[in-house]
Amino acid sequence: EKGGYDYFMLKEIAEQPKAVADTLLGRVDASGSLTLDEVRIPPNVLREADKVVIVACGTAFHAGLIAKYAIEHWTRIPCEVELASEFRYRDPILDPQTLVIAISQSGETMDTLMALRHAREQGSRVLAICNTNGSTIPRESDAVLYTHAGPEVAVASTKAFLTQLVACYLVALYLGQVRGTKWGDEIRDVVRELSKIAGEVERVLETMGPVRELARGLAHKNTVLFLGRHVGYPVALEGALKLKELAYMHAEGFAAGELKHGPIALIEEDLPVVVVVPSPRGRSVLHDKIVSNIQEIRARGARTIVIAEEGDEAVVPYADHLVRVPATPTLLQPLVATVPLQVFACELATARGNEVDQPRNLAKSVTVE
Ligand code: F6R
Repeated sequence: EKGGYDYFMLKEIAEQPKAVADTLLGRVDASGSLTLDEVRIPPNVLREADKVVIVACGTAFHAGLIAKYAIEHWTRIPCEVELASEFRYRDPILDPQTLVIAISQSGETMDTLMALRHAREQGSRVLAICNTNGSTIPRESDAVLYTHAGPEVAVASTKAFLTQLVACYLVALYLGQVRGTKWGDEIRDVVRELSKIAGEVERVLETMGPVRELARGLAHKNTVLFLGRHVGYPVALEGALKLKELAYMHAEGFAAGELKHGPIALIEEDLPVVVVVPSPRGRSVLHDKIVSNIQEIRARGARTIVIAEEGDEAVVPYADHLVRVPATPTLLQPLVATVPLQVFACELATARGNEVDQPRNLAKSVTVE
């Protein structure tokens, strides 16, 4: 069943290009326009929505954090993202103009289900992004956009996460298309870039040898930090979560700009710090800022593991280890930048003798609050 791989997780990491391509299938056309017939929420409701609220847990929450950047940029609708377990109990402000998006691989996560029930009671429309046909969350939602990752067996989510990202981008771009924002041309360009992204994920997978070797060399460490900015920040959180659950190591993700407000005190000699670097094209201010963050932590002894776009030469002098990912539009970078972090965590878990597919204390689907 593992198709020649030692673990389901490795198989599922390898299946990501197909999962991404399958999730786009039939939803984008060559001209750069989107058809999301499944989203049976009438276009006028989508046009009139004045707020988007995303609820999810764990890895799906990280997909939601990334979706916020995309939704606010392409649609100019304010978007909040909240852990489902917090959302339900703080009396959130919801009304029929609020579009709620519930993201869940299993479709059975109790916290997310309770959050969406609460939202529907307040009259909000709920769109589910889900990987499991006919599961409870899509059944109780107004509409569903299925991710086509196929069954995910390993407890740690990998291919489901990448397809959640694709679904989130599709929703963001679709909302932009329906509402006709000033980003029309950019939206069409990004849709075309999305169609190429499965091939880029494949290219990343082909170059993971050095990442595995690096992970094996860090198996004795106690702590790994992850830094990112913009959409790289949720990627850093996801990298840290994968490492906690698989390698049972202390791992934390930070927004790189927060370093000087506290976390930089953690930096000590030879501490591994993974930095997700945004593209030097596009939002180049961000890029310059993160390069100086890398300099700062390296000057304090950190062992820098830098994930940067091909052709980004500015990071080279400060990277103890450099992991290249293909150039993508800024907002799409998480689709390629997350992959090395998955491989890194999986290899560290293996090197530490942990049960990769079934980490201690965890269940694949959390059906209790
Ligand atoms: C982490 C992981 C969990 C799930 C979370 C939500 O690798 O798998 O954090 O993402 O429990 O699960 P779903 O998406 O099924 O609602």
